[in-house]
Amino acid sequence: MGLIKKICCVGAGFVGGPTMAVFADKCPQLNIEIVDINKERINDWNQNDLTKLPIFEPGLKEIIQRVRGKNLHFSCDIEPAIKNADMVFISVNTPIKQKGVGAGETSDLRWVEACARKISEVATGHTIVVEKSTLPVRTAKTIKDILNASNPKVDRFENKKSFSVLSNPEFLAEGTAIINLERPDRVLIGGDDDYAIESLKKIYLNWVPPERIICSNLWSSELSKLTANAFLAQRISSINSITALCEVTGADIKEVGKAVGSDSRIGEKFISPGPGFGGSCFKKDILNLVYLCRYFGLSEVAEFWNSIVKINSWQKKRIYSLIVDKLYGNLFEKNIAILGFAFKSNTNDTRESPAIDICKDLIKEGAHLNIHDYKVSKQAISKELDLDLDPFTNVLSRESTSKSWSFFDDVYQATKEVDAIIIITEWEDYKKIDWELIVHNLRKPSWIFDTRVLLEPSYFKNMDVNFWQLGLGF
Ligand code: NAD
Ligand code: UGA
Repeated sequence: MGLIKKICCVGAGFVGGPTMAVFADKCPQLNIEIVDINKERINDWNQNDLTKLPIFEPGLKEIIQRVRGKNLHFSCDIEPAIKNADMVFISVNTPIKQKGVGAGETSDLRWVEACARKISEVATGHTIVVEKSTLPVRTAKTIKDILNASNPKVDRFENKKSFSVLSNPEFLAEGTAIINLERPDRVLIGGDDDYAIESLKKIYLNWVPPERIICSNLWSSELSKLTANAFLAQRISSINSITALCEVTGADIKEVGKAVGSDSRIGEKFISPGPGFGGSCFKKDILNLVYLCRYFGLSEVAEFWNSIVKINSWQKKRIYSLIVDKLYGNLFEKNIAILGFAFKSNTNDTRESPAIDICKDLIKEGAHLNIHDYKVSKQAISKELDLDLDPFTNVLSRESTSKSWSFFDDVYQATKEVDAIIIITEWEDYKKIDWELIVHNLRKPSWIFDTRVLLEPSYFKNMDVNFWQLGLGF
């Protein structure tokens, strides 16, 4: 067993790609191979035109330019990459199960299990296997069981195969992934093999100060990841629940948020009100926590965390109902511009975006939507919206639903002659557009619904438009 020289990362997604890019950039001595079963994604990672990378993250393309083809490689050659690696990261998707036991509640581990079986089959010598994906607590035990049941038990050099399993959850947030990876608040390494823990720690020490590297047992590490996401989501549901109270009492959520967040014990981060949290992880990770609590008979704890998800769904429904109400209870033959479809700004990711539920509900109500986003493509929106009920017949119809919305890459065209504008993603650029011109071009009477508390309400006071902002009382 020697120093780690070769790394394989299975999964070239939002985590695998940026994480390994930063590893390669900070550790020129390492050779890193990122592999994936998705050929199209790998081709996109290998594009010469760096604006066509599969993931948009500020700062990512500059790093890819520096390291790709040097010590970072993207390919579909999974077996050789695992075979040659001293350390293999599992960074595959772990979405909520759609069918069977735990459907709608716990993670579907089929991709993780497939990885473990592949590693078990083709790895050589001693391999450190690192869980990078977010996993239910005790998944490391499943991975260990599969690895240790290796067939064959020896590698091609007749050396006995052996494995160590570590948990090294990722805490990056999309849109700030590179900053989070380069300057993490902490790195968490869980394991029961000191040698393996030290090996991974040594890699991080190339750029992370030692006091920011926390070591724990495997189960604490797995549980800490779920808990951290649950705490973050809880803050958002807390502030979102108060937006409703502000609107009926005459309070202003901006003022309340500032006053509350100024208490250093509470802090100002992660209390920005909005249409509900999105992204591929918060809901999934809380549901996993809820499932785990129920499994261990902790029903009160399960209910506590489940309420965070319930408030999130309620916030989206509340906003949609309110919009219908303000538009005289009728959206038939009305055009509405949706500004922003990504689940947050600075990303092209639409997974679990609050825009999806809000748009689907508006379409079912009979509205036609003009959807604009700075980074999300028409195809990505299509994937989220098109397989839905026909608004008129309630029959599943791809064609009729896609007629209910249009894609615009020009914000002025998207908002021309519409009855209402709904801001769903907090792109900074929406602050800078010519709102006077936009208001001038609306069909009157018209509304602007600011669900992100992005715009300054007083600016619209003397304009010919009704302005509603989340959490702003009368
Ligand atoms: P993703 O869907 O973007 O990427 C996963 C990739 O794994 C896909 O490209 C898929 O094709 C590939 N894959 C699946 N099975 C494979 C196999 N057997 N062999 C090779 N490739 C395979 O997912 P993601 O957003 O990168 O998330 C990955 C994990 O990281 C999840 O568990 C998630 O909860 C966690 N996580 C995500 C974020 C985030 O910001 N997206 C942050 C922290 C943690
Ligand atoms: C989140 C966590 O922040 C990361 O630490 C974690 O690694 C990641 O999940 C994960 O496990 O996948 P991410 O979902 O990428 O990261 O983005 P966030 O910035 O957390 O935003 C999530 C959602 O909450 C977005 O829809 C965002 O708009 C919303 N949000 C966030 C608010 O409504 N208000 C806030 O104050 C903050």
